[in-house]
Amino acid sequence: MGYYWTLLLLPAFFGSSYGNCGEPPRLDYGALDTLYSDLDNFTVGATVNYNCQPGYITVQQTSNVITCLNDSSWSTPDEFCTRRSCGHPGDIQNGQTLISDILFGSRVNYTCDFGFIMISKRSYRECQANGMWSNEVPVCEVQTCPPPPPIADGHYEPDMEDYTYQHAVTYNCKDSTFSLIGDKSIYCTGYGNWSAEPPKCTVVSCKSPDVENAKKLSGFVGPYTLNSAVTFECDSGYTMTGSHSVACNASSEWHPPLPTCSKIVSPTPTTTTTTTIGKETVTGGTTVSQKPSTTKKNDETNGGSTVAQKTTKPQSTEENGGNMYSTLLRIRNQGASTRDLSLPETCH
Ligand SMILES: *[C@@H]1O[C@H](CO)[C@@H](O)[C@H](O)[C@H]1NC(C)=O
Ligand SMILES: *[C@@H]1O[C@H](CO)[C@@H](O)[C@H](O)[C@H]1NC(C)=O
Ligand SMILES: *[C@@H]1O[C@H](CO)[C@@H](O)[C@H](O)[C@H]1NC(C)=O
Ligand SMILES: *[C@@H]1O[C@H](CO)[C@@H](O)[C@H](O)[C@H]1NC(C)=O
Ligand SMILES: *[C@@H]1O[C@H](CO)[C@@H](O)[C@H](O)[C@H]1NC(C)=O
Repeated sequence: MGYYWTLLLLPAFFGSSYGNCGEPPRLDYGALDTLYSDLDNFTVGATVNYNCQPGYITVQQTSNVITCLNDSSWSTPDEFCTRRSCGHPGDIQNGQTLISDILFGSRVNYTCDFGFIMISKRSYRECQANGMWSNEVPVCEVQTCPPPPPIADGHYEPDMEDYTYQHAVTYNCKDSTFSLIGDKSIYCTGYGNWSAEPPKCTVVSCKSPDVENAKKLSGFVGPYTLNSAVTFECDSGYTMTGSHSVACNASSEWHPPLPTCSKIVSPTPTTTTTTTIGKETVTGGTTVSQKPSTTKKNDETNGGSTVAQKTTKPQSTEENGGNMYSTLLRIRNQGASTRDLSLPETCH
């Protein structure tokens, strides 16, 4: 009997004299086997084993066991479990996959390319403990635009049910009496709007351009519609102020404004002040009111604004317009001739 007691008491005796270990360490990757849970007093030489935490798998050639050492500490555990891999998370259509790692607990993010929008609620997938990626690969859907705006006196094509990113439509006016002003084609942008305002179909018609003391070199007959061009040449003995060539623009006006032809005057002494007036007159009608006393009050009231009115509103009466026009010519002639006087190199 006494023999047995000695055998049973021996470990207890040595245990207390050489030390005891407390609770084994907690590990991220390993969970203490349930056999040892709730124990907090281990004798020297005792061993405990661990199992892998969820999301972790065993590493070959490592030990999942630790020992209570004679200095009352546990032996250092191996890294006997490692995070499991979920494999490739799958690529997204019309987008980018952002991967830093594919192991348990990591997240891969997805983005859509320009012109595409994510219709899935989640833009990511997470590597789960079971080694599977959460949810599905997100879906990028092409951006759509509302139907193209309809326009008066014109139409667009093609007519489609849906207009998506980079689809273009082309506008045409209903017949050749209309000119298309603006971008002929617009396209659906990646923002879901159209690249520009639709064009307009308008009737563009410029009045037959007549320049006194000049003849046309081209563009003899109308109708003068958008971009119709006319070229002028002054009669001999006259010199031109303005552009030789003008074109009918979208406002039904000649652009640049019609030139003028003024008589070439042989150089005579003149005052220096007229130089400035001449230059200003050349640039436009607005300076007419600044003209010196040689200009009658009648001219001043007509001014440049009347001329602009006449050209922007072709419906104004012919005789009235004609009077104003000749008045303008007179003013311009004065301006031009004084300019010529001060710039004798223009005379040939
Ligand atoms: C562990 O057990 C031994 C012997 O049973 C005892 O002497 C010691 O006080 C205990 N240690 C702790 C921390 O409970
Ligand atoms: C503890 O163990 C180590 C190595 O196993 C040994 O060298 C040492 O002598 C032991 N200490 C005691 C107090 O038994
Ligand atoms: C994914 O997005 C989250 C949240 O914005 C971020 O913390 C993480 O670093 C991203 N991961 C990658 C791989 O881009
Ligand atoms: C289309 O939408 C984008 C973004 O909102 C904006 O910057 C752009 O100016 C819009 N384009 C047009 C032609 O309205
Ligand atoms: C047409 O020409 C006139 C005169 O040159 C100019 O004032 C007007 O701005 C032009 N209109 C357009 C739409 O370019």
